[in-house]
Amino acid sequence: MVLFGGTGDLVMRKLLPALYQAHAAGSLNNNGRVLALGRKDWSREQYLAFVEEHARVHIKEYFDVGQWQHFCERIDYYRLDASDAAGYPGLAEKLAGHPQRVVVCYLATAPDLFAGICENLAAVGLNDKHVRVVLEKPLGHDLASSNAINDAVAKHFAEDQLYRIDHYLGKESVQNLLAIRFGNSLFEPLWRREWVRDVQITIAEDLGVESRGDFYDGTGALRDMVQNHLLQLLCFVAMEPPASLDADAIRDEKLKVVKSLRPFTPDDVLNKTVRGQYKSGAVGGRPVKGYLEEDHIPAGSRTETFVAIKAEIDNWRWAGVPFFLRTGKRLQERVAEIVINFRDVPHKLVPGPSGLPANQLVIRLQPEESIRLHFMAKAPGDSLVLQPTYLNLDFHEMSRSRRADAYERLLLDVIRGSLALFMRRDELVEAWRWVEPILDTWETATTPPKQYTAGSWGPAASSALLSRNGVAWHEES
Ligand code: BG6
Repeated sequence: MVLFGGTGDLVMRKLLPALYQAHAAGSLNNNGRVLALGRKDWSREQYLAFVEEHARVHIKEYFDVGQWQHFCERIDYYRLDASDAAGYPGLAEKLAGHPQRVVVCYLATAPDLFAGICENLAAVGLNDKHVRVVLEKPLGHDLASSNAINDAVAKHFAEDQLYRIDHYLGKESVQNLLAIRFGNSLFEPLWRREWVRDVQITIAEDLGVESRGDFYDGTGALRDMVQNHLLQLLCFVAMEPPASLDADAIRDEKLKVVKSLRPFTPDDVLNKTVRGQYKSGAVGGRPVKGYLEEDHIPAGSRTETFVAIKAEIDNWRWAGVPFFLRTGKRLQERVAEIVINFRDVPHKLVPGPSGLPANQLVIRLQPEESIRLHFMAKAPGDSLVLQPTYLNLDFHEMSRSRRADAYERLLLDVIRGSLALFMRRDELVEAWRWVEPILDTWETATTPPKQYTAGSWGPAASSALLSRNGVAWHEES
């Protein structure tokens, strides 16, 4: 595995810790090696010292000194300026070996380097069919720039060599969603417009933009979270059963969903989307700055840190069922969940609480992974009155064994050559096509994003968006 951007944040925070866990779990081939690339003129020992200081601290659980030392033996460092073709013959020499070896090039660099890196790899023959390339998001800024990157990469690599990563698809609960939907006969008949009133997908973060102000201000929540993570989750909820678990069978079904998303007119953007930006407030009892006071944020920035959207899928299964999507930074708590609200009973024979959907399926991705099925049952006592209750599937309780983190699972998929949890180019194109009218309308809007207090659940307009549709966000407190 060749790590471009080998001294960068992603490699330290996610990739090396994930590879360590895979190593410790015995999932890596004994001959597997990691070659980190960087511009610094370091020896292998200097790199390992850096790794010890920066990557090691991110391994909080299941750390073992002996395993760590053993893992470090797999790691080597090579000095390379990724944009300079001159260093690549040396890289090819370093990677020379068995002709059948698999080389995974993980491009954990800024996307404007992707085209050049692929060209340089191809120039030294590092694009044969045993070479795979992992592309990190953001893959472009809009449809045109995303196409430009994909065209440049496609000159040298076939589509089945390309792994466009979305780490949300590596989360255990996302795979569980597939298992629940297609491994039970109970849900599938209900998984449609006749029985589902609305779907809500939330990815809320309590963190702010941290040290990524520069990047974030040019990106915003729509590009950072909606175009990829939220849309991918929506696809997994809404897709038709694929014919098999083959990568293309799954990706074909996801593609149909994105293509069925109703396009936004400028009026729709006004009525069906909310963009917000946090102002100072308190999160977990601690006072925090507003977005405009964060480092590297230009005065008067209109970048959104919160988005809520009413999406509609124009197909036979989902016509008329709103899919509410929401994401934001500096919200009240860190939670990611998918909520399926089922339709109410047609006639309320037994009295009970009003305003609550009788049945809800809540799939939590984080902080803990669980699936809850809410339903009504008789309240204990003399009278026949309903009270809400639920069946709880707590994965932590079910099995205390270690669960692979999203990056670990996806890296192993790349090594095994499984593309099912990676985005195909056509999916990406359609996702950009769908978000672009929103981006365009916001860009020319005369009004700034709606302010919300850090530590809240976003602007009031977000609740209003749902109440206009006669519903409320799940468990908003
Ligand atoms: C990344 C975004 O893709 O996902 C970040 O760029 C965000 O802004 C992160 O914080 C959230 O991921 P997770 O797994 O921590 O929910």
